[in-house]
Amino acid sequence: MPGIPPLPRGPPRCTRSPRGRSPGCSWHSLVRRRTDGRRSITAPPPTDSEPAEPGSSFQQCSFQSNGAAICGPEPARGLATRALAGGRSVQLLAHEDKAKADALAAELGGQMTTGVVGDEVSGAIVIPAVYFDPAKDVVAKLGSALDGKVYVDITNPVDTSTFEGLSVPEGSSAAEELQKTTGAKVVKAFNTTFAVTLATGDVAGQQLDVLIAGDYEDAVRAVAEFASAGGLRPIVVGPQRRARQLEQAGFLPILLSANDQLPEFQWNSALKVVPAS
Ligand SMILES: NC(=O)c1ccc[n+]([C@@H]2O[C@H](COP(=O)([O-])OP(=O)(O)OC[C@H]3O[C@@H](n4cnc5c(N)ncnc54)[C@H](OP(=O)(O)O)[C@@H]3O)[C@@H](O)[C@H]2O)c1
Repeated sequence: MPGIPPLPRGPPRCTRSPRGRSPGCSWHSLVRRRTDGRRSITAPPPTDSEPAEPGSSFQQCSFQSNGAAICGPEPARGLATRALAGGRSVQLLAHEDKAKADALAAELGGQMTTGVVGDEVSGAIVIPAVYFDPAKDVVAKLGSALDGKVYVDITNPVDTSTFEGLSVPEGSSAAEELQKTTGAKVVKAFNTTFAVTLATGDVAGQQLDVLIAGDYEDAVRAVAEFASAGGLRPIVVGPQRRARQLEQAGFLPILLSANDQLPEFQWNSALKVVPAS
């Protein structure tokens, strides 16, 4: 039928890029695991502490996956790239293998220090670029070291057993769940920006939007300034509970990218809110 795209059939694709897997390919493999042999995806699958000083050194607690250097950009690489573009210093903390952080630091250059999770967290902003369950581990491991810091939750807590929804309690979000367990100020952001798009900060010449939700005014401002300094457009959407909407919003482009009937979406598209004027 003209104008109506065909229903998706078959497993989602995981194409090769010049550097290896397509960006976001780890999602591809997760979606494939669920859908192979079953069915294809039918839907496109405050407190009042000190404000962060503009231009101050900040911490990016980031983690590379195995083979990151050949698998294309992951969140840590993209976020570190934006941080450096914004003139920030970066502390890269690998999960366990410091060599991974060293490799990314060598690749990106700039003002970087490296270590592993558990090392002293030196900056004001912490961005664990990990999945929701590992994020809980990180929060537990860092414990009081996170108190008062800005914690940026980038996760999309997709229920990978069904790929039908999110694995958070109804009426909550990953950000809110993490907030219950930490003295950090949790801000939801960057979950709707694919890693590869952060490398340049735009898609098809359009500046990336960074949708931000948080309860701590100073923390939200710090994240907005971080995004802005890196050449992105911060949009503060509301309090921390708006993370529920952001996490659903982040799920949508994941499903679009995993849908092989929509080849124009390849983990490199962007959600953009276009103002009327
Ligand atoms: N990919 C994107 O474009 C994108 C964009 C925005 C948001 N996100 C969100 O970011 C999260 C991660 O996504 P991803 O697949 O893209 O990440 P990824 O590149 O696969 O990296 C995940 C990292 O988590 C680390 N890790 C695993 N368990 C850990 C633990 N217990 N403690 C500390 N680190 C641990 C792994 O390190 P080791 O390999 O060394 O164990 C791995 O490097 C997801 O929630 C996703 O929704 C992704």
